[in-house]
Amino acid sequence: MCGIVGCVLKEKKAAPILLDSISKLEYRGYDSVGIATAVDRKINLKKDAGKIKEVDKKLDLKDMEGSFGIAHVRWATHGDPNKTNSHPHLNMDRTIAVVHNGIIENSAEIKEELIGEGYKFKSETDTEVIPHLLDKYMKTGLDLENALRKVLDVIHGSYAIAAICVDEPGRVVATRKDSPLIVGIGHDEYFVASDYPAILKYARDIIFPEQGEIVVLNPDGVTVKDEYDNVINKEVTTINWSPEMAEKGGYDHFMIKEINEQDTAIQNTLTQRENVQQIVDELKGDINRVVFVACGTSYHASLIGKYLIEPLAGIPTEVLLASEFKYSARTLDEKTLVIFISQSGETADTLKALDIANETSKTLAIVNVVGSSMTRRAQYVIQTQAGPEIGVAATKTYVSQLTAIYLFAGLLAGDEELLSKLEKVPDYINEILKDCDVIKQLSVKYRYAKDFFYLGRGYAYPTALEGALKLKEITYIHGEGYAAGELKHGPLALIDKGIPVVVLLPPGDNLEKTMSNLEEVRARGADVLAIGARKDKEQFTHAKDIFLINDEVDEIIAPLVYIVPLQLLSYYVAISKEGVDPDKPKNLAKCVTVE
Ligand code: AGP
Repeated sequence: MCGIVGCVLKEKKAAPILLDSISKLEYRGYDSVGIATAVDRKINLKKDAGKIKEVDKKLDLKDMEGSFGIAHVRWATHGDPNKTNSHPHLNMDRTIAVVHNGIIENSAEIKEELIGEGYKFKSETDTEVIPHLLDKYMKTGLDLENALRKVLDVIHGSYAIAAICVDEPGRVVATRKDSPLIVGIGHDEYFVASDYPAILKYARDIIFPEQGEIVVLNPDGVTVKDEYDNVINKEVTTINWSPEMAEKGGYDHFMIKEINEQDTAIQNTLTQRENVQQIVDELKGDINRVVFVACGTSYHASLIGKYLIEPLAGIPTEVLLASEFKYSARTLDEKTLVIFISQSGETADTLKALDIANETSKTLAIVNVVGSSMTRRAQYVIQTQAGPEIGVAATKTYVSQLTAIYLFAGLLAGDEELLSKLEKVPDYINEILKDCDVIKQLSVKYRYAKDFFYLGRGYAYPTALEGALKLKEITYIHGEGYAAGELKHGPLALIDKGIPVVVLLPPGDNLEKTMSNLEEVRARGADVLAIGARKDKEQFTHAKDIFLINDEVDEIIAPLVYIVPLQLLSYYVAISKEGVDPDKPKNLAKCVTVE
């Protein structure tokens, strides 16, 4: 998804800082980059399609005068990735520059009207209507801030917008609706940005603008106003994420760094126990149904919620994909608790579902990004403590989400035994990380495969789905996760000689049956990679390869641990392939702010 940054500095050049900040949003997925500053009643504009490094080499993005400006990384929606479609976009007089993240749904109608009024468009983007509309309203005598307020009456869709105008030196105006935007207050420098990594180096005092509020950055401070021009006294939150947390810290990629941070992510999330207990105390006795709602990896974490809450707390539990929520959730009521799981807290599908659920039911969000939209819209919040996750493929946030779900389910059921098992999970994960050479060697063998299967039963089934998703996302190899018992109902027809099948075999009630499934695929020539407990090693001798895990990891806590070798396998396969960057897989964005 696109990323935006805006800044106003005192006596400093904005372009180098804008370039540094926008580079920190590369992880969001992008195809073009651009920066605009203003000085001496002139907009300086540099932009093009391509990676930031390439465009900087070609255009020297740092070399622009002006102490305020805006920057953008574009993830094409309307129009190909090329120089003309890159942001910032200007009005015809080149006095106004705009960056935008999101989609203006009625841009075609607005464009037609503006063309009728004599406005000429250069790009195919939906965004270009904004500088022309600002131009139109400023020509009626409005300042940039009030012109932007008027634009919001006209445009429909989702947006985070930042704009500058040569007639208003030292000012950046910005707003948002259904797209993320934070405001950073530094020492004599003020920022707006789509996400924390962009500004952590410069500002850690953060304001979270609500939908439709207008932010004005000046050299002397920040003002936030509502739609009626009233100044709002916004709360300032100091966040404890450090700039180093958003750096690679000696690792080759963010993904492997984040896989290695999973022990800490779990330990830190376990510190939320008291908060979770309070939520459980308030809700217990007042709910008779739980519905989880999420997308992608967060959906896989949610599936574990069903396996835990139903048997342990005896409360019927369903899990829905957020994008399907409005078609299937017709029976919510005040006794239903709807739990939203999200790393970013900004996923459009999940946010939409949250708004619907808020009308009838109790809502709880389990979210990683502090101050994100979901944390402000849900009635209850559990903050996972994974720190910033930059790699597009979720790893440490997945195990943190699981930790929060285990805490919630364990406390709801009063299951101290389960809760105490969580304490040792970070050690089990570290044991696997010490054995990562074994996975590295396996990746050499498997990197040429065209299809992979992942099998798991019961608690291990969501792990199979998540393992397959990690493989698809970052290696571009086709992978499918199946409930081990489901294979014989169709997909077994695809199993052939040499197809890798990863079978998850944690110790517990399901082990014996999953072993039969292992035999089914082995008999058809599959190359089986068995992942199970050391003590069960003898049972796995028919498998082509074996990866062993601590015996204490039973099937109930296995989801927190057995995913780690699967993450590592995907990572090592990805980096063994030429031109594949596991941190920024093609076509994907870290935060999906469109439905
Ligand atoms: C996971 O590796 C993906 N990046 C993706 O499936 C992600 O989990 C999904 O888009 C949901 O995002 P969220 O957790 O930020 O809501």
